[in-house]
Amino acid sequence: MTLPGHISIWKSSRSQETWLQPPKFDTMTSAQIRQSFLDFFREKQHTIVPSSSLLPDAPNLLFTNAGMNQFVPIFLGQQKPPWKPARVADTQKCIRAGGKHNDLEDVGLDTYHHTFFEMLGNWSFGDYFKREAIEWAWELLVERWKFPPQRLYATVYKPGPGEPSEFDREAHDHWAHLFREADLDPAVHVLNGGKADNFWMMGDTGPCGPCSEVHVDLTPDGDTRGELVNKEDPRCIEIWNLVFIQFTANPDGSFTPLPQRHVDTGMGFERVTAIIQGTNNFVDFSGTISNYETDIFRPIFNELEKLSGKRYASMLPTVGRLCETPAADTPALQNQNTQEQVDIAFRVIADHIRALSFAIADGIVPSNEGRGYVLRRILRRAFSYGRTLGFHEAFFFKLVDVVARTVGDIFPELRAKQKPSCWRNFRVKRILRW
Ligand code: SER
Repeated sequence: MTLPGHISIWKSSRSQETWLQPPKFDTMTSAQIRQSFLDFFREKQHTIVPSSSLLPDAPNLLFTNAGMNQFVPIFLGQQKPPWKPARVADTQKCIRAGGKHNDLEDVGLDTYHHTFFEMLGNWSFGDYFKREAIEWAWELLVERWKFPPQRLYATVYKPGPGEPSEFDREAHDHWAHLFREADLDPAVHVLNGGKADNFWMMGDTGPCGPCSEVHVDLTPDGDTRGELVNKEDPRCIEIWNLVFIQFTANPDGSFTPLPQRHVDTGMGFERVTAIIQGTNNFVDFSGTISNYETDIFRPIFNELEKLSGKRYASMLPTVGRLCETPAADTPALQNQNTQEQVDIAFRVIADHIRALSFAIADGIVPSNEGRGYVLRRILRRAFSYGRTLGFHEAFFFKLVDVVARTVGDIFPELRAKQKPSCWRNFRVKRILRW
């Protein structure tokens, strides 16, 4: 299958010549992966709903930061779900750059954190619960998409001292059954986690509950036996969070059970795309699997390469390398460091142009306060990394077109706001004044 821009996106270290070769492998495109998720849940009687705006209704949220935000009044029993059966699925635009969920400073330094990302999700409003949510997650990942089950790990909630609620035996038993059926040992593949990892809260208050995450072992041999789960290691990443909304968190720190029990899941679209594309459909785990090595980011990199005259070489920072290496000042290592900085800048700018484009398309503009100030910080961060690529005057707005071109079919608001007057204001002098 030819990907947009006739590029090969699979290997993390490749030469310019490699980029220009036709792709060697067949995988779903990101657009097909998104569609496949939605089709799967449509088959399970879910209504497909549009993403809500990045500008949330909830006053205490800076940006929409999870697929469930738009459904909070339903979870709390303040609104009745209009869908029959009461289940929906969508892809939701999210920004996590401020407040409880804030990934801004990690962006660019690794393969999988973003300020803006799409969250694929399915919801049940007092309808199905843990069994269906877990079985369908398995069905989509293992049976339809062919994730190797031996690389999957599920986590379930087990409260530590003083933490709310109780061990999620029900979720544990459903996962254990599925792994056992696949000839895998549940004692290895089902792991417990406390409140920090397995009790999901949107903010300090509001709907919440125990959750089960699905993690994927991306190491070449896939034999880490769960040791990398929740260790902030890019070789084992969470791709899907299944939250069982059962409580509302009160301002005094207590939790009140809700009248009905709900399901709220969120899958990292860019992460799943990276795994499917970056392993050539799960056959090659030898390279670095990165969200940036996908057809989501490659068109932006192509444009940045054209504008800057520099190349993206997929290098990641190696923590402590400079201290450990006696030959730190050799020309070879200096070149490597320079390329590393260039690659960080590519990732930061490609991420941040998506956040800015989507936010502005939803009417949120950089300013001096609140969410506008967060956008301003993102913009300044992009601009400062732009210097690494040799940009000393306005360049950022030139990337809006490629973002609108690549995802404008799914999010038409991007095309509608492609040339707003506010983009013209993001000139270097103005940014420097901020
Ligand atoms: N609300 C959960 C999350 O954001 C699942 O969608 O992770």
